[in-house]
Amino acid sequence: MTKLLLSLHVLAAIIAIGPVTVAASMFPAVTRRADRTGLPLLHRICRVYATLGIAVPVFGLATASSLGVLGDAWLITSIALTAAAAALLALVILPAQRRVLAGAPVPPARLGMLTGIFNLLWAVVVVLMIVRPGSTTGA
Ligand code: HEM
Repeated sequence: MTKLLLSLHVLAAIIAIGPVTVAASMFPAVTRRADRTGLPLLHRICRVYATLGIAVPVFGLATASSLGVLGDAWLITSIALTAAAAALLALVILPAQRRVLAGAPVPPARLGMLTGIFNLLWAVVVVLMIVRPGSTTGA
């Protein structure tokens, strides 16, 4: 059961977080171009896959409770970082993209920086998931 939940958790992370990372990273660069026809699609990918990404913490929490590691420091840190990344995406990056689509002047450098922080947060969470510092279970 744990193996199934962990597989679904990792699959959800690859399928949902991957596209958001790529589309959100491309968005600021495309705003600088004369031809901005790709912007609505990039925004849509970010929005739709962000929603699908809810499956990642859902299966993550199920895996954690199945393993009995819900109280571990590495996991609590990961949950906090995941929440921070999700909030950054939902409350800052997606609304900024919407403003760009509506014609508002949002500096691409600012959007690029926010997206970079978002990507970095995922990278830290993935390292925590694999290294699990302080964990005495498994390798
Ligand atoms: C609320 C957030 C999360 C929780 C509760 C959670 C929970 C877990 C748990 C319990 C494991 C199993 C670790 C073990 O085998 O002992 C795991 C593995 C993993 N998680 Fe998460 N996770 C969360 C978020 C994320 C995110 C956001 C990503 C990627 C972007 C991610 C990627 C992974 C990967 C790649 C593994 C496999 C690591 C391995 O088995 O070596 N997780 N997660």
